[in-house]
Amino acid sequence: MEQPAIKFENVWKIYKLGRVEVPALRGLNIEIKRGEHVAIMGPSGSGKSTFLHLAGALDRPTRGRVLIEGRDPSKMSDEELSRLRNELIGFVFQTFNLIPRLTALENVMLPLAIKGVNGEERMRRAKEALEMVGLARRMNHRPIELSGGEQQRVAIARAIVTSPRIILADEPTGNLDSASAAEVVDLLTRLNRELGVTLVVVTHNPETAAPAKRIVRMRDGVVYEEN
Ligand SMILES: Nc1ncnc2c1ncn2[C@@H]1O[C@H](COP(=O)(O)OP(=O)(O)O)[C@@H](O)[C@H]1O
Ligand SMILES: [Mg+2]
Repeated sequence: MEQPAIKFENVWKIYKLGRVEVPALRGLNIEIKRGEHVAIMGPSGSGKSTFLHLAGALDRPTRGRVLIEGRDPSKMSDEELSRLRNELIGFVFQTFNLIPRLTALENVMLPLAIKGVNGEERMRRAKEALEMVGLARRMNHRPIELSGGEQQRVAIARAIVTSPRIILADEPTGNLDSASAAEVVDLLTRLNRELGVTLVVVTHNPETAAPAKRIVRMRDGVVYEEN
């Protein structure tokens, strides 16, 4: 049987701030199948970002097990881990996280450079990703010369340029006006439907969550409701 894209088994994440322990996840169980489009909602502080960090192998659980396509990142070498993050997963953040002095094209080429893809191929694939997000004409612009919505679309191009199988988006429309937000949501939804990418979107915004087939609500570090 095919392994789920993401599986959490009784996952705890306890941050330590000096002597104070902050439990961000308290025995979280969730399974996300390949090709699913899931929205994660819940009040601020409920553990949504912590969940995404663990799902993307950016951090490890205090207790319990995280499996990404059936594999346990806590058992991987550093090299396997960086390969997993670079090849399997694309991240999209609320604040876009583009590098200001690089053009859109250069920002999108960056993950391929890290992967060691040669210059010509890098250029070709980055242009293709920018076309996919409708920004080929803006490829030589720097982030500051682009609107918020355009910057987020560049960030999405950067996330998909390595052809990841999973996209994890943390409040991707949190800094956008409603028209740009709608464009970004349409784009992410299209990537899920047309490319079959597993899409997990953390959001406060019901309109950002709406196209998801499944809405998971978190509270106090666990799932408390699904529909
Ligand atoms: N790096 C960290 N160090 C200490 N506490 C943290 C850290 N990251 C998150 N937390 C705490 O963990 C809880 C869950 O945070 P988070 O996962 O960011 O929630 P959400 O994304 O739903 O707002 C909060 O109480 C937050 O303050
Ligand atoms: Mg958060």
